[in-house]
Amino acid sequence: MAYFRAHIEMLDGYVPGEQPSERDVVKLNTNENPYPPSPRVLEAVHSITGEQLRRYPHPMGQAFRQAAADVLGVRPEMVICGNGMDDLLNMVVRAFSGPEARLVYPSPTYTLYAVLAAIEASLVTEVAFGPEYELPFDDLVAADGRVTFLCNPNSPSGTFVPVERVAELARKVRGVLVVDEAYVDFADENCMRLASELPNVLVLRTLSKGYSLAGMRFGYGVGSPELIEGLVKVKDSYNVDAISIAAATAAMRDQEYARGNWERVRSERERLTGELTGLGFSVLPSQSNFLLASIADPTAESLYESLKARKILVRYFKQPRLDGSLRITVGTPKENDALLAALRELV
Ligand SMILES: Cc1ncc(COP(=O)(O)O)c(C=O)c1O
Repeated sequence: MAYFRAHIEMLDGYVPGEQPSERDVVKLNTNENPYPPSPRVLEAVHSITGEQLRRYPHPMGQAFRQAAADVLGVRPEMVICGNGMDDLLNMVVRAFSGPEARLVYPSPTYTLYAVLAAIEASLVTEVAFGPEYELPFDDLVAADGRVTFLCNPNSPSGTFVPVERVAELARKVRGVLVVDEAYVDFADENCMRLASELPNVLVLRTLSKGYSLAGMRFGYGVGSPELIEGLVKVKDSYNVDAISIAAATAAMRDQEYARGNWERVRSERERLTGELTGLGFSVLPSQSNFLLASIADPTAESLYESLKARKILVRYFKQPRLDGSLRITVGTPKENDALLAALRELV
């Protein structure tokens, strides 16, 4: 007897990157920040009281909302918190798509969009990015989604669509434009101002990457109060917990610390790009904390396996258009050196 609804029975769930239990692995496969979070985050976590845990948290994560509003120059009513950005993506898909409403996005991109859409049995149009990951502007507009997703910088390419172009897209589409800015802290510019300027733009961010809090699970969205009110209707009542609210608030208020790490990652990104290019890889220009590096010989798959045998994990996607590439997270200088030393022997 089949217990699940037919479309869930058929569904291939999302496959997260490997999280090895050994500690001596050079882990460059899931785009975590290689540096620890701000010391203020740990202080905030340590000062949580039993009384705070006894009670439910603020349903909207008010302390974080205020901190984000202060840092970003928006009103608190324009901010919604999530248990990681994945929680917000889930809310968005539940709120805007479905069997009668189309979700549109350029691909290849973050594979969770397709999985969330499939869970909702949503109509979906995937539009291929151009050869150098140029935005397929006209086809995205023509697809006429109730909601359009744009991952910017995109994963797994690391490429960036200029803000003005995103603004044009938002003005052209009839539905909501969701800009996934998971990696934007490592980029030169970002689309945050569009969330205030245009009523159909929702900008989503995470503390997993820029603030070194992937283990904490905290993300947020910024958009017009009308968009935020709609999303609140579909969120879990207490979707962010007292500990993560305190940690994320402390991280957000310590911009100076976070910025220092973004700069370190950006500078290693440039070094790694140069070194990989010198080894014969072709590397897309990246505005994120990872690189998509392609190579024909040896194959990307065999390189992935050989690196893994040496306890260096990178990401390999066995799917059309990506199966000739490795996605490599920018690590600490020492981790990047270990990767480069291995590749010098293997390539
Ligand atoms: C493009 C993109 N969006 C969203 C997320 C989810 O981030 P979070 O850890 O906040 O759920 C990720 C995580 O890898 C990502 O790559």
